[in-house]
Amino acid sequence: MAASPPVLNDPSLWINAVRIGGHWRDSAASGERFGVHDPGNGQLLGTLPTCGAADTRDAIDAAQLAFKAWRKTTAEHRAQVLERWYDLMLEHVDDLARILSAEQGKPLPEAAGEIRYAASFVKWFAEQGKRVGGYSIPAPTADRRIFVAKEPVGVCALITPWNFPAAMITRKAAPAFAAGCTVVIKPSEFTPYTALALAELATRAGLPDGCMNIVAGDAPAIGGELTAHADVRKLSFTGSTRVGALLMRQCADTIKKVSLELGGNAPFIVFDDADLDLAVAGVIASKYRNAGQTCVCANRILVQDGIHDAFVARLAEAVNVFIIGHGAQDGVGIGPLINADACAKVERHLQDALDKGATLVARTPLPDGLDPQRYSAPVLLTGVTADMQVASEETFGPLAPIFRFTDEAEAIALANDTPFGLASYFYSDNLHRAWRVAEALESGMVGVNTGSVAVEMAPFGGIKLSGLGREGGEAGIEEYLEPKAIHFAGLKS
Ligand code: SIN
Repeated sequence: MAASPPVLNDPSLWINAVRIGGHWRDSAASGERFGVHDPGNGQLLGTLPTCGAADTRDAIDAAQLAFKAWRKTTAEHRAQVLERWYDLMLEHVDDLARILSAEQGKPLPEAAGEIRYAASFVKWFAEQGKRVGGYSIPAPTADRRIFVAKEPVGVCALITPWNFPAAMITRKAAPAFAAGCTVVIKPSEFTPYTALALAELATRAGLPDGCMNIVAGDAPAIGGELTAHADVRKLSFTGSTRVGALLMRQCADTIKKVSLELGGNAPFIVFDDADLDLAVAGVIASKYRNAGQTCVCANRILVQDGIHDAFVARLAEAVNVFIIGHGAQDGVGIGPLINADACAKVERHLQDALDKGATLVARTPLPDGLDPQRYSAPVLLTGVTADMQVASEETFGPLAPIFRFTDEAEAIALANDTPFGLASYFYSDNLHRAWRVAEALESGMVGVNTGSVAVEMAPFGGIKLSGLGREGGEAGIEEYLEPKAIHFAGLKS
């Protein structure tokens, strides 16, 4: 099958090679290549070298070499490089969005939104890098002074998912670079081209050779090397809890610093005293963003008795007007899912819920010609209960299940009845309830009267099985720094 990459204003952003030590490598030690396909139609977009352990070792060696010089640059210099990278991302937003949409499937305007979101982390950490300060501590004796300096961790392995091919890279790489670290990135094999284009722009921005290495291909072999290699001092991963736990175990022998942004099972609570318009808009934004393929998507929508019917009626109207189609088509709101397994999971959750007594309230048929193994029409279900699969598993697709509850205590108990704790949302106009519920929800992020909790200036991350550490905000750069306590003793007065 001949490859058909997206048409770009700057075709040099479409790169059929991996990035190791400042070179574009168009072959891997395996001698093999893997294909990347448009999830909307199965068309081959391009092929890349299938990297394995040997290529990953080369990338780590390159990152280790580059680290020696990069860590010594000033925070001001690193900020200037990041600022230029930010400018270039915005200058090339259309091309980056086309690449992202082609390999990931999200509609072009949403893809452009992700590029701007991704760029916001670059800007934020360009600024934050200049604010990394140390501190001094009162010493136990008069002849001693204690200073704490913050130093870059070293070479960082960044393993990123397919659902946000740009933003999950910059949310990790920008603080790493700002802190003085270098990185080896393993993007998802479904969406590597966005990562490669970002690396090209980072190079144009003046990021030195070897600071940003990108390998893709044989995921277990690459992950095995990244986690086993002693020179890699930190791993940051976004993906499933199962793989996060595996990587964490693999990092144990070399005692790496680990950040994990893992699965969620977000409750979205609508109380009787909620603003109905706001709550409907919030659930649409949260549930159907990226066709439901985000870790922070509302997964369980809990609606109080008094507002239940009005809310369901309004949501059904909104769900029925979505246009489903290829991400490059004008007006599309819901693109394809990433693959046939993702579509099958939505159908499995739907069937299980229907078998156990849920009611199908809305589901427009797929437009003619759209393959149900690639596309999934938005679904709205009512009468959902705790015994159904949708209650305990992340659907990662456009299925909105409505659970009904009677009072606040029941809503909190239902919301917290999960081993995950990434995001929670609720809608209420009662100030007292708002504080009570925000404090009672067990999650790293809580949206009160908003369905969106992802912005560059706030910490993003979860508790329980949803992960470790935070990205973004003030905390985001700390993940790439180690405090060093320097004790000056024997000082004469
Ligand atoms: C994710 O789904 O992993 C990230 C979502 C976000 O940054 O909003």
